[in-house]
Amino acid sequence: MNEKKSCFSAILEHMSSTYNIVSLIRKKRDGKTLTREEIKHLIDAYTTDEVPDYQLSAFLMAAFLNGLNDEESAALTESMLHSGDIVDLSHITGKKVDKHSTGGVGDKLSLILAPIVASAGVPVPMISGRGLGHTGGTLDKLESITGFNVDMDLARYKEIIGKHNLVLAGQTKEIAPADKRLYALRDVTATVESIPLIAGSIMSKKLAEGIDALVLDVKAGSGAFMKNVKDAIQLGEALVGIGTNFDKETIAYITNMNQPLGYKIGNWLEIEECIDAMQGNGPEDVMEITHLLAGTMIYLGGKATDVKEGIQISKQQIENGEAFNKWLNIVAEQGGDTDIITNPETYPKAEYEFEIKSNKEGYISAMNSFEIGMASVELGAGRRMKEDTVDPTAGIVLEKKIGDKIDKGETILSGYTNKPSAIEAASNTLVNAVTVDETKPEKELLVSKVIDRRGCRAFEL
Ligand code: URA
Repeated sequence: MNEKKSCFSAILEHMSSTYNIVSLIRKKRDGKTLTREEIKHLIDAYTTDEVPDYQLSAFLMAAFLNGLNDEESAALTESMLHSGDIVDLSHITGKKVDKHSTGGVGDKLSLILAPIVASAGVPVPMISGRGLGHTGGTLDKLESITGFNVDMDLARYKEIIGKHNLVLAGQTKEIAPADKRLYALRDVTATVESIPLIAGSIMSKKLAEGIDALVLDVKAGSGAFMKNVKDAIQLGEALVGIGTNFDKETIAYITNMNQPLGYKIGNWLEIEECIDAMQGNGPEDVMEITHLLAGTMIYLGGKATDVKEGIQISKQQIENGEAFNKWLNIVAEQGGDTDIITNPETYPKAEYEFEIKSNKEGYISAMNSFEIGMASVELGAGRRMKEDTVDPTAGIVLEKKIGDKIDKGETILSGYTNKPSAIEAASNTLVNAVTVDETKPEKELLVSKVIDRRGCRAFEL
């Protein structure tokens, strides 16, 4: 009897430790390791609505604070990947290649490089995310184009990529649905900046979308989730490790996010800058990284013998107008208004505009991109709660970047919003986000490292 009882209580204990959500949260909270099955159960139960947001938020915070080891991290990626389908794009000829960024401020590169690469003959099945924390999201930017539709089912996703060599989609309900929900939750629970959570999020959707190879832009600096190169390398290695384990050729670059990319931050404002870039008038930093990433995708797609040649092809696709034509075609295919793209000056403007001016003469020596990103969110370009809608016209336009000379009273940047109540707090944030010094700062490297299956090394072309 006693034996029976202890056996029964052992089963109960096992069940409660495996399937009781509170005990799983407690286990992670107390710094213990969860099994593969426990992580799978948690993710499955959340995806099927058996676990509410508040319990998963608690788990995310515990995972954020105590970390996940390699096995837990692999289990998380796998569970999110298998929460939906793995798309079969074998009907499309050629190597399918995508790019993903770990997130930055003013990071609009996907929108420029996707049409470049597709127009060079490499299929790009791109699944992107929305704004996360202080960073912008490709989907929010695309949706600022009147009528542009990023929501589609798998059949339509396959149809568009088959027709244009390109699709710019949100996660269909079939692709990593667990990540879609976790992503939205992390955005509003301060649980973004975690290597295993970021790696699982990115790789689960990328592995599901039907690619053969992947290029990653891992950002390091004040506007990135990884604030220094050392942490960014760790994230890059985690991402490349997962890609390699799944037999996808994966190359990551560590790029500088110590100031926003380009001059425009905010959804439509960034689309405007992309239109300029695709017509040959992009800012220097934006184009340097765009061509490197696009060139690498063209190389991985088998259309160039090395990255250098890929970069040349990428530049040529802008010069000959083919990238811009591809962009117009995909905007039209996905329901977007192409008149707005060819006449961007007709797009409505935010009702309120304000300027931040320098109170002294000197050089711009630092820009806290996290604070600039947060100010942009406050002005309406991002979300503070899951249910928030973004304002396509809100954002920030920089007049100066690091290293530029500035006079006393000259404008550093302008803010745009439809929320007058946000202006005072955003202005205070922005004033403190920019530093002016007497001496011109040293120019920082835009791309510092490359990571592939052979490891991490200093970047040189
Ligand atoms: N991009 C993603 O898709 N997920 C993250 O967690 C961060 C950046």
